[in-house]
Amino acid sequence: MVELLRRETGVRGHPENESFAEESTPPSCKCPGRTTTSSSDQYASQFRVLGQREALAPCGGDHLETHVVGPGVVVLADAICDRGRIAPGDDRINEAVASASLDVLIAKAESAQVLRVIGEPEIQAGVLAGQRGQLDPEAVGVDLEPLVIGVGKGEHILASDPTAIMKHTKKVIYLEDYDMAVITGDKAQIHNLKDKKRPTQKAELLDYDNEQAVLGDFPNFMLKEIFEAPATIRSAILGRALADRNLIKLGGLESVLGQLKYIDRIVIVACGTSYYAGLVGEYLIEELAGIPVEVQLASEFKYRDEPFSRSTALLAISQSGETADTIAALKKVENYGVLRLGIVNSVGSTIARMTDAGVYCHAGPEQAVASTKAFLAQVTVLTLIALHLNDGQTKRFKPLLEELDDLPAKAQEVLDNADEIKRIAEKYANYRDFLYIGRNNAYPSAMEGALKLKECSYLHAEAYAAGEMKHGPLAMIDKDFPTFVIVTDSPLLEKTYSNIQEIRARGGPVVALATKGNTAIKELCDDVIYMPATPLETQPILHAIVTQLFAYYIAMSRGYDVDRPRNLAKSVTVE
Ligand code: G6P
Repeated sequence: MVELLRRETGVRGHPENESFAEESTPPSCKCPGRTTTSSSDQYASQFRVLGQREALAPCGGDHLETHVVGPGVVVLADAICDRGRIAPGDDRINEAVASASLDVLIAKAESAQVLRVIGEPEIQAGVLAGQRGQLDPEAVGVDLEPLVIGVGKGEHILASDPTAIMKHTKKVIYLEDYDMAVITGDKAQIHNLKDKKRPTQKAELLDYDNEQAVLGDFPNFMLKEIFEAPATIRSAILGRALADRNLIKLGGLESVLGQLKYIDRIVIVACGTSYYAGLVGEYLIEELAGIPVEVQLASEFKYRDEPFSRSTALLAISQSGETADTIAALKKVENYGVLRLGIVNSVGSTIARMTDAGVYCHAGPEQAVASTKAFLAQVTVLTLIALHLNDGQTKRFKPLLEELDDLPAKAQEVLDNADEIKRIAEKYANYRDFLYIGRNNAYPSAMEGALKLKECSYLHAEAYAAGEMKHGPLAMIDKDFPTFVIVTDSPLLEKTYSNIQEIRARGGPVVALATKGNTAIKELCDDVIYMPATPLETQPILHAIVTQLFAYYIAMSRGYDVDRPRNLAKSVTVE
């Protein structure tokens, strides 16, 4: 049985080759033998729709008529079928695949965005998989998608990454560029069209924890993943932040340590939440390691023509490791001779394979579309990298290493306050607009907080550096425009108090996120959410848990599907 699921994650071949768990997206209908049509634009969102429908009507009368697949999946069935050489069910299909020339298949791909699943109940499907970035889409005529085949009991499942499969099977075969898979009944045979002598790939076992695929007592994955914050931080530092030995060990960077010594500029590229993690990283790396950092949206970076010296490193941050724009950014500098680094969560993904070295997040599978725990892991890893690059020179080295050890307990403290955050969030659930402000590294925290609210609650939320209030945002403030102010311990605390006063003077409601013990703030604001004290460098990690919960409870109170917000996809694999 062939099942088509959408991509979620995957990193393979990454230098720090430790296995770790990943996630799944809900499966599409298992009913066999439907014609599929697809345009790449539909790809990401349609798969989610399939998942939702399946949840309502699993393989019953209301089975799905269409499966939407990435264009890379298109080719083989059509090519073979159209040539009429092999009838469905004919054993010679394997032979035909092996002898099919890439040209023929590509020609077919141009004209047909269709995967025809041949024959029932013995389904035969051909798959051409490619790793985007290594194939030239113009030459190929389609944008090839990475694919993985899940080997189940009497069935095969096609997905664009293993997390979508983990619920069904842990046995997977990763397809490489120019691989062709023929799936017939309970067999999957792989041929490489370029290297016909290449030995057949073996199925690999995913190292997933079954717990990670299920909700347990949680009502949805978003809340479950937010509540995994302490474990996420712990797992990101495990074996890496060795406070007792005053040491940071990042196995994934060891092979490039020599090169790192000559790096005098880092350009971080990322999208969405990962971009905001990058902005926090900018503060960390510049202030702890003294290396200038520039953070760019991958979608912008790829179209810019900027000077790039070989002493610049490009650092891609991605939860899924499959985001098209981030991949394109890495591809852009392919021939520049620069070091390409990655911070990636998903084992086996394209970005991990494309980078020269990198550090895994070890956050485990993230299933809710809005990223939560992955952000915490990314910022934790960025802290480790910043300290590592500093090579123990800063006096912040030891205190921060010790703080990282204490952080999971502090994250738990934030979570223990979830009922209070819920109470406050519900009070604000009926506003239409929100402003988030912060200074210094609380500014990216504000941006990420606003993004979470947009993604889950469909509310207008924007973020500003608090110092910019007078340059525009103050004009928006009135009683219907609340502000979420991040006002945790910092040398700039007093300045943010002034911002709060300006907002209140214009009738704007204010929710503050402050450090425990700050009683003065109560007088200034309508509502205060407290978090434990932690040094400036690690505050964004705790900020994020609060803003995630705040957005979550507003979305729940408005009755939205927090795991699958409308119009959004977990991995954006098309431009
Ligand atoms: C999508 C997701 C976001 C994510 C962004 C970047 O928009 O919905 O949660 O932050 O892509 O994804 P990446 O996998 O590259 O971190």
